[in-house]
Amino acid sequence: MSNIVLVGAQWGDEGKGKIIDILTDRVDFVVRSQGGANAGHTVRIGEEEFVLHLIPSGILRVKTKCIIGNGVVIEPHTLFEEIENLVSRGIAIDDNLYISEAANIILPYHKVLDVQREKFKGEKKIGTTGRGISPAYRDKVGYSGIRTIDLLNPEVFRQKLHMNLMEKNLLLTRIYEVEPLDEDEIFDEYIEYGGRMKKYIRNTSKILNEAVADGKRVLFEGAQGTLLDVDFGTYPFVTASSTTAGGACTGTGVGPSHIDKVLGVMKAYTTRVGSGPFPTEFTPEVDFVDRKRDREYGATTGRERRCGWFDAVIVNHAVRVNGIDTIALTKLDVLDNCDKIKICVAYEYEGNKITDFPFDMSVLEKCTPVYEEMEGWKRETKNILKYKDLPKQAGNYIQRLSELIDTPIDIISVGSKRSQTIFAKEIIK
Ligand code: GDP
Ligand code: IMO
Ligand code: MG
Repeated sequence: MSNIVLVGAQWGDEGKGKIIDILTDRVDFVVRSQGGANAGHTVRIGEEEFVLHLIPSGILRVKTKCIIGNGVVIEPHTLFEEIENLVSRGIAIDDNLYISEAANIILPYHKVLDVQREKFKGEKKIGTTGRGISPAYRDKVGYSGIRTIDLLNPEVFRQKLHMNLMEKNLLLTRIYEVEPLDEDEIFDEYIEYGGRMKKYIRNTSKILNEAVADGKRVLFEGAQGTLLDVDFGTYPFVTASSTTAGGACTGTGVGPSHIDKVLGVMKAYTTRVGSGPFPTEFTPEVDFVDRKRDREYGATTGRERRCGWFDAVIVNHAVRVNGIDTIALTKLDVLDNCDKIKICVAYEYEGNKITDFPFDMSVLEKCTPVYEEMEGWKRETKNILKYKDLPKQAGNYIQRLSELIDTPIDIISVGSKRSQTIFAKEIIK
């Protein structure tokens, strides 16, 4: 038995898609438990690139079953666009995808509210992906969410939609001063989506628990990253779901006793998209990341990612709140040309050194990084297949990161392709 929860250990975009793809030939199920189409997981197979937003990255392997769990918020238009795109590229979907009957649906008013709320906040905006994520989760916990199963029952859907739209249209017209939305139009569109979705909708908690009882292996595909978690992230500059390991259980209906391991994915440096504090962010003079070459543009929004040095304070926090057992380190190759590499080992705040991630953002904003400096390796690593063949300085860097976060680094990625992966240890037995 080996059921693994994979989580991002920074602010998202750690290269989870690539690592998930590497692991999917060793598992039977890949399941998404939270988030929605705000995620963008890139998988490169040969010269082909796939960006998955809602559908688990396991879909690219013929034998892997994929599940969109109850904790995910689903925007049907994006879902079908993604399905059509994959099918046109020869990927089999119908026998391999299940969607939870309890997953909440993103409706047009969620997207409009997301965009309007950001406008309203002006300079204080979160920098959301504009996909309606937070408004949809707000309705879910506010008892007015609409679930996939509701789309299969026109009466129930009509009633819920009617109630919701009465309230939303007041918000849209009176607070945000935009046009109201038409109930019949949404009803017709979403009933049609329900009809198309029906064949995928299941009790996915049951499917997963039966699979686990049968000795099948499940990989829980985390989206976003720990520092975007609604509780443990840089609140309020976060996303609306539990991106940490616990979310894998609540978002799928699989109990914690069935989880064998938590795998954290982290970049060899740090990136973030959207607003919010970022202590190790590069100043323009030292920023060596070539956004185009190194693929540091948002896979969902196309926004340029903010980049900075590796921050051991935030990753230590991620190790703690997720219970991370093992790490996949990605994008080591991006540091190939650096003379010197900095690692943030602590923060300085009002003359004191702190190593615990501060929950008070007014404190984090005033923290300055305490750096340790290491020698770069100045050699190309992208074709290296074995740990022992890495340049000595690269080995030293990996070892130091592992010491600082007190966690083994068992996978090292030196490029976006499947082959550009070094296994220091086999993590799924
Ligand atoms: P995710 O959201 O965590 O799945 O990450 P993204 O797909 O949004 O962003 C990671 C980007 O880096 C993608 O373009 C990947 O193809 C690419 N990538 C992943 N691992 C590596 C690596 O080890 N080296 C390099 N150079 N690129 C990588
Ligand atoms: P993956 O799975 C990086 C960020 C947004 C914004 C904040 C809130 O590809 O790592 P939202 O639309 O969720 O309400 O936006 O969260 N964000 C991500 N940043 N990677 C992601 O996903 C993200 N999903 C959301 O940029 O700062
Ligand atoms: Mg991404």
